[in-house]
Amino acid sequence: TPLATAVVAIDGPSGSGKSSVSRAVAARLGLRYLDTGAMYRAMTWWMLTNGVDIHDPAAVAAASDKPQIVSGTAPDGPTITVDGRDAAGPIRTDEVTKAVSAVSAVPEVRTRLVDLQRAVIGAGGIVVEGRDIASVVAPDAPVKVYLTASEAARAARRNAELTGTQATSVEDTRADLARRDALDSGRAVAPAGMAEGAILVDTTELNREQVVDHLLALVAEHVR
Ligand code: DC
Repeated sequence: TPLATAVVAIDGPSGSGKSSVSRAVAARLGLRYLDTGAMYRAMTWWMLTNGVDIHDPAAVAAASDKPQIVSGTAPDGPTITVDGRDAAGPIRTDEVTKAVSAVSAVPEVRTRLVDLQRAVIGAGGIVVEGRDIASVVAPDAPVKVYLTASEAARAARRNAELTGTQATSVEDTRADLARRDALDSGRAVAPAGMAEGAILVDTTELNREQVVDHLLALVAEHVR
């Protein structure tokens, strides 16, 4: 696969540094970038603002084809709109973060979003981050990375991201991460986890530049 048509799949739990690393890798390689977590968040935001009970899977399933979700793929300024409205801010609220695992466990939601994701991926040339990219969305991707870090490191990073937007303690962040990871990896459909053929990259002891350099080396090795 030449780079221009390659898919670089980056999966991993929250706080593993996936987003910033994926964007940096895409920018360095001149590829597009897709944040699939943002799409699950956008779907969740729509459910919450339209009065759908997110704990009623049948109601969520019935509404899952209603929101129009559009993702912009520029790595230095990814965008997301829902029914034409900018959703970048609202999808990062605590309310959405707490609800997103329940919504993303609904099979109809996943079918709909995986279809949208594959449409965006198209002929490739893109870095795609999420939980099921290597296992479900793009199993033929020439590069599949599973990014992880210790729970303490992930909580510390996520907390640093949140500082200034929402007041949270590291303890709360850590409990929230652990709860969300357990839900995401315990669900029946497309559970989060490491796919067959994926390369494990533990970022606990690495800074962002080191992770980016490591991933660029992996891409150089697998895409030619
Ligand atoms: O990466 P994130 O924290 O923004 O993702 C939000 C949630 O979306 C996450 O808790 C699980 C879900 N998700 C998913 O089920 N499948 C994906 N490919 C990406 C995210």
